Amino acid sequence: MDNLFTPLQLGDISFKNRIVMAPMTRSRAMAEDDLVTDLHVEYYRQRASAGLIISEGVQPSKNGKGYCRTPGIYNAEQVAAWRRVTDAVHAEGGSIVCQVMHVGRVASHLNKEVSAETVAPSAIKAEGEIFTEQGMKPLDTPRALLREEIPRVVDEYRRAAQNAIDAGFDGVELHCTSGYLPAQFLSTGTNHRQDEYGGSLENRCRFPLEVLAAMAEAVGASRVGFRICPGHPFNDLHDDNPEQTFRAFLAAAAQLNLAYLHVIRMPATGLDNIAISKDYFADRLLINESYTAEEASQALANGDGQAVTFGRPFIANPDFVRRIKESLPLAQMNPKTLYVEGSEGFIDYPFAD
Ligand SMILES: Cc1cc2nc3c(=O)[nH]c(=O)nc-3n(C[C@H](O)[C@H](O)[C@H](O)COP(=O)(O)O)c2cc1C
Repeated sequence: MDNLFTPLQLGDISFKNRIVMAPMTRSRAMAEDDLVTDLHVEYYRQRASAGLIISEGVQPSKNGKGYCRTPGIYNAEQVAAWRRVTDAVHAEGGSIVCQVMHVGRVASHLNKEVSAETVAPSAIKAEGEIFTEQGMKPLDTPRALLREEIPRVVDEYRRAAQNAIDAGFDGVELHCTSGYLPAQFLSTGTNHRQDEYGGSLENRCRFPLEVLAAMAEAVGASRVGFRICPGHPFNDLHDDNPEQTFRAFLAAAAQLNLAYLHVIRMPATGLDNIAISKDYFADRLLINESYTAEEASQALANGDGQAVTFGRPFIANPDFVRRIKESLPLAQMNPKTLYVEGSEGFIDYPFAD
């Protein structure tokens, strides 16, 4: 498994090994100001031996928030708070990028500021419920963005990318799957717009491509990655032809000289997401979903990608990289403490002796 431990450079992002920590929402931010805390400093510091850390999803605006206690990167106070996290990771010799996540319609107004709105390409409610401090609640019915509002949302992402770099992140990753805002624009089930942001394939790709271009313009394309999972039905997302949609999107995105594509394989969709991604990003591909270390090493040897991202194993094993290297046993995470407040299940998983 030696190939998991070699360094990698994609664009301006340095990986000290090929075992990357996948983005994971943990709902520990301060509820009112969307600020990260001392707990985040410690949580990410503990995991800095990852080849690269991709942060939890971070909202670029108040409207972009949907879940409980997720952090933001849209004001100076948040930038200062994140700076403490990135400094801690860098002090340990690690790298960290910020995953920018605007949830669009996947939101409850109970989880955001009173003045914030739930917006989406079209006023189509997702089926399903979302956790709030008052228990599980139905998802909001979104307001369709007006044509003239769309550049402002693109600007939110641009500023978020700039803020992330100002906060010391090594790069940014656009969250482009899981039924959130970019995926809502891409997909036929959620995008019924009649203007140049809906209808044709080209039009449905316009918003995420404009966002990627804006982020690249703000911080340099070599610091921007993005995450996809064609066919992912999460959050009631439906597209009539996800392979066609993503091929068009990836073909255009490949022109932007971005640092990397991060793809989730999902065999249940019937699509080979890694094969689709390799057609456009074969030399800068992070692959994810249920890999063991052995399988990850084999996948790299097969040329399926340049690095593998691991989510759940990093929750209970802050020293996951060392445990793989030394064949130490892995601890199991406790699903009950994934999203609770406080340190339990967040920073109290021990390192191997
Ligand atoms: C607690 C939890 C929170 C997650 N939050 C996010 C997120 O904020 N952004 C994202 O892109 N994926 C998120 N995911 C998905 C993970 O990044 C990853 O794709 C998933 O856990 C599968 O990888 P694994 O099999 O290595 O765990 C989350 C997963 C978990 C378990």
